[in-house]
Amino acid sequence: MADPVTHAGDDPSGRLFVLSSPEELARAAAGRLWGIARERATVLGRTGKGTKRVSLALSGGRTPRLTLAALSSEPYRDRFPWDLVHFYQVDERWVSPGDPASNQRMLRESLMSCAPVPPDHFHPVDTSLPDPREGARRYEETLRRAFRGTPGDFPRFDAILLGLGADGHTASLFPGSVALEEETAWVVQTEGGDPPAPRVTLTLPVLNAASQVIFLVSGKEKARVLGEVLSGRGGELPASRVSPRRGKVTFLADAAAASLLGGKSPPARRAGGNGRGKEDGTG
Ligand code: 6PG
Repeated sequence: MADPVTHAGDDPSGRLFVLSSPEELARAAAGRLWGIARERATVLGRTGKGTKRVSLALSGGRTPRLTLAALSSEPYRDRFPWDLVHFYQVDERWVSPGDPASNQRMLRESLMSCAPVPPDHFHPVDTSLPDPREGARRYEETLRRAFRGTPGDFPRFDAILLGLGADGHTASLFPGSVALEEETAWVVQTEGGDPPAPRVTLTLPVLNAASQVIFLVSGKEKARVLGEVLSGRGGELPASRVSPRRGKVTFLADAAAASLLGGKSPPARRAGGNGRGKEDGTG
C-alpha cells in the first residue's frame, strides 16, 4: 500500500506534509507509524539481530486520539505487527490513570483497548508512586531494562510521536523549564500545562536520539507556533530543539495548522543532544 501521505507542503527537505483535515492527518500519521513498524519488523525478521522489538513512544493530549483510532482500524489494524511493537509514554501528567487528564487513560481508550496490543507491550508511567520524582526514576529504570544492551547513552526509539503546544512546548518540556537543560537523565519530573501541574517527561537527549520523530499538529491555534518552529524563528522553543542527530523529523499538519505557512520553506535544523548544536551540526 502506498504511503497515503501526499507531499502537499513545499518543503524541499520533505519534512512537512499538510493534510486537508484532522481525519486525513490521522490517517497519514497512522500510515507513517505502520510504515515504520513494518520496515523495522522486516529488518528484524531478515537479520534476527538486535532487539526483537519495535519501540514507539506516544505523546498525550488531544491530537493523537484520531491517529491511534485510525491505527486500531482497517487498513492498519490487520497489517500492523502488534506482536513486535512495544508502546511507551513520552510524558504523563501526575494524576491517577482514571483521571480524564491522564495520558495513560487516553492511550488505553484510543489504542490499547481497541487494538490487539499484548498487555505487556504497553509500558505506562506509574503514577501510583509517591511522587513524580520517583515516577521519573522508575520510568527511566523501565526504559533502561527495555533498551539494555543497545548502543549509546540514550534509548533509540524507532519512532516518537510528538505534539506541539501553542507555546512551543512538546512532550512536557515547556519554555523556560530547567528540564530542557537535562543532558544525562532519560526521564525527569517537571511541571507545566494550563493550569501548571506536576508531570514526568522524556528529556530532549532522548527525543534527539530517536530514529524518527513525527510531530502531529492540528488546529488553527497551532498555526502561529508551527510557522515559528518551521521557519527557525522559534529557535529557543522546546519543539525547535528537537532535531535528532541521526534521525528524521517529520511534521504532519492539517490545513488549519498550516494556514499561516504560505509556502515558506523551513531552514536546515540543528544537530541533536539537547538541541543546542551548532548550525553546521557539529554541536
Ligand atoms: C501533554 C502532551 C503535550 C501535547 C501538546 C499538544 O501531556 O499535554 O504530551 O505535549 O502533545 O500539549 O496537545 P494537544 O494534542 O492536546 O493539542
